[in-house]
Amino acid sequence: MAGDHGPKAGDHGPRAGDHGPTPGDSRAAAARILRENDRGGFNVPTPGLYPFQWLWDSGFTALGWAELDEPRAWQELETVFLGQWPDGMLPHIVFHRPDPGYFPGPDVWGTSHDPPTSGITQPHVFGTIVRRLLETARDRELAGRQARGLFPRILAAHRWIHRHRDPHDTGLVAVVHPWEGGEDNSPLWDGALARVPIENLAPYTRRDTGHVDASQRPTSHEYDRYLSLVARFRALGYEPDAVYQTSPFRVATAGFNSILQRSDRDLMWLASSLGEPTAEIEAWIERGRTGLGSLWDERAGAYRSRDLVTGEAIEVMTSSSFLPLFAGVPDGEQAGRLAARIREWGERVRYLVPSTDPQSAAFEPRRYWRGPVWSVVNWMIAIGLEEYGFHELASRVRHDTLALIEQAGFAEYFEPNTGEGLGGGSFSWTAAILLNLSPPA
Ligand code: DGY
Repeated sequence: MAGDHGPKAGDHGPRAGDHGPTPGDSRAAAARILRENDRGGFNVPTPGLYPFQWLWDSGFTALGWAELDEPRAWQELETVFLGQWPDGMLPHIVFHRPDPGYFPGPDVWGTSHDPPTSGITQPHVFGTIVRRLLETARDRELAGRQARGLFPRILAAHRWIHRHRDPHDTGLVAVVHPWEGGEDNSPLWDGALARVPIENLAPYTRRDTGHVDASQRPTSHEYDRYLSLVARFRALGYEPDAVYQTSPFRVATAGFNSILQRSDRDLMWLASSLGEPTAEIEAWIERGRTGLGSLWDERAGAYRSRDLVTGEAIEVMTSSSFLPLFAGVPDGEQAGRLAARIREWGERVRYLVPSTDPQSAAFEPRRYWRGPVWSVVNWMIAIGLEEYGFHELASRVRHDTLALIEQAGFAEYFEPNTGEGLGGGSFSWTAAILLNLSPPA
């Protein structure tokens, strides 16, 4: 579990302490980053590249704040929920105040919420985050009050996603945009995205490549399609059923569904501890287990995400293919096969867990979600491995995460062989994961 370890001598890779700062220095540096990225009650993921509040970033960021300042951790959740729509939808960006340095901004999204928001969602982590904050709280009275206040809003968000993204109760929810899945330019999306027609695409200028080298970011082929989907959803007024039914892009990923399943389970725990009804949540959990179970490919010994437009399993494995462990869904034998696969990847790259199968032709070790290591995914995988009893492997994943950060700094993502920090720097969720994983000095 998070926090029960230090980097282990004899483990893989350079040891923390061999190079660079001590864990105490790293915690102080991480605290500084969270404070510097605070814009007054909410954190930007990183200055420049992402100048607003992002949905799943804010969940992980709250975990980091909890190590420093519990009221501020709860405030991170309060501010991101200011973006929640009346129907329960949680948008993936809340534009608390204007910033011309990002594209596509509020004018492109054209939603009617105040504060302005995007019109698509992102992985739902809040059941899990609130449970953790509550379980580890030093100020239990504050935590109890905050959890009670957030519970109905998280419930509404989960209800929205189950109802509008799985209207036929299959147990698998769809994402309708790669940005919703969290793994923005993963090879998971390649086939589905290639079928998205380029339409209603006004001339535009990307801002991301002004902040980060283009070789580490999505391609313009991808951006044209990302924006065509936005234009399509905007034209539909973001009416959720119309969006779902007519979207040319509908994908059920092992990652998104696993994170939701875990958050459903943690929401159920919250409901029980608050004395709230649980039947509706229990039904989501049951269906979700069946849905995730249907992604298991026995021959490959892996979960495969599914393109819901063609009904086909997606060939490539990504780090999110291991998140069913975090969801507690595999049986013992399946979990063993997943762990073996992670070990196999670990023989091909120096640092676990690369975001794309290093044996895949799509593997690009420097490009965003096509190969680099991401600290938040590692955090979830390590918890899953730990809970299935793979203690050494969990320890390696945590140790690799800390070693990367301690050597390369608080980068957005890391090259899995050289350990180089890539993408944005001074990243809030990377700082938060370090605070959560490394014990106070
Ligand atoms: C971006 O702009 O790259 C974001 O990840 C999309 O939300």
